[in-house]
Amino acid sequence: MDGARLPNDLEAFWMPFTANRQFKKAPRLLVSAEGMYYTAADGRKVLDGCAGLWCVNAGHARPKIVEAIVAQAREMDYAPPFQMGHPKAFELASRLVTLTPPGLDHVFFTNSGSESVETGLKIALAYQRAIGQASRTRLIGRERGYHGVNFGGTSVGGIVANRKMFGTLLAGVDHLRATHDLSRNAFSRGQPEHGAELADELERLVALHDASTIAAVIVEPVSGSAGVLLPPKGYLEKLRAICDKHGILLIFDEVITGFGRLGKPFAAERYGVTPDILLTAKGISNGSVPMGAVFVKKEIYDAFMTGPENMIEFFHGYTYSAHPLAVAASLGTLDTYEEEGLLTRGSELADYWADAIHSLRDLPHVIDIRNEGLVGAIELEPIPGAPTKRAFSAFLAGFEKGLMMRTTGDIIALSPPLIIQKSEIDLLFDTLRGTLKTID
Ligand SMILES: Cc1ncc(COP(=O)(O)O)c(C=O)c1O
Repeated sequence: MDGARLPNDLEAFWMPFTANRQFKKAPRLLVSAEGMYYTAADGRKVLDGCAGLWCVNAGHARPKIVEAIVAQAREMDYAPPFQMGHPKAFELASRLVTLTPPGLDHVFFTNSGSESVETGLKIALAYQRAIGQASRTRLIGRERGYHGVNFGGTSVGGIVANRKMFGTLLAGVDHLRATHDLSRNAFSRGQPEHGAELADELERLVALHDASTIAAVIVEPVSGSAGVLLPPKGYLEKLRAICDKHGILLIFDEVITGFGRLGKPFAAERYGVTPDILLTAKGISNGSVPMGAVFVKKEIYDAFMTGPENMIEFFHGYTYSAHPLAVAASLGTLDTYEEEGLLTRGSELADYWADAIHSLRDLPHVIDIRNEGLVGAIELEPIPGAPTKRAFSAFLAGFEKGLMMRTTGDIIALSPPLIIQKSEIDLLFDTLRGTLKTID
């Protein structure tokens, strides 16, 4: 190990979403990154099978992004975003709305996916009130959904471990059923055939609560954190139609699916369903400087642009909304995506990726494999009485063999940088095959 770069004491840092005591006994430290690879503290190259944490879509240390951040830090480190502005923030906003599906043409900047979620939910509530529908205060999420860790996102989220410690959360929230159905859809390539009717759950909730109490429905088009759960064919279309019928806003949380993960710039385009509010973060700045963005339809923005012109229209914002370094990083990111065609590269590689991941089908413990664009998951049979252990063992063994993957429950999730080459897809799945053969 390179002692000069390693901390002496791991105790003080309370690590997020980490088994702290286990980690600190056998730390996995990454010290540098370039392109498709991390370098671990012991000098080993580690193939990045999950784009950091679903965010480094253009790969690591990309020159345009690094240069943009460095130049911006020299030019202007910070500018207040309330009642002041800086030119690049407007340039970025104008550029971003050319990438989003038509109609989503205004953008509110945040610093993370969680903040995008809170912002989107607050916009939904305030919009309903602004158009004279103040009784619409209810928010509908979905079981197994992940919308970050703040109170609104935790409330509409549907992962029990993330919810159960935190009391009653937001009042007036309900949940659709999850769409994952191994009994009917195991080993689907792309969207599963069965389950569109699960969107009718929304009709059930409308019948229960009455549409006049419901402001918005929030879903991930593809659930990422719960283990790459794909929307059944026709499901999102149905959800859109039911929302339209009842005046309910549809929010897509595209924090993971945005910026090319599914082979199109956004899942909304991949699936041909446009939400009213679209939430992003992660890939917007290639993970380099924290950033998020909430896109809304013109009607929503316009509904706020009423009243005296000297009045603030929306009492919401962050000290670091449109932070100059994040904006510069995002502009560098968009340049890189555009120059290398990365926002659609997932489509070109999708078949190769699908063949590669489904080739693991006959390995021990594998009960499902699913894929879309450049994302995929391998679900393992849990060890009786020890859920999560099997996949976590694979994660540890894979890291030893030079592959970084993500696990959630007993699901291995893969989402490499979109610059991945076919030879690296081969390397990734060869390593994973070797790993899965060794674990109990
Ligand atoms: C769909 C979705 N929404 C929100 C978030 C929260 O993002 P952040 O961790 O940047 O707050 C995530 C993070 O993985 C996510 O996958």
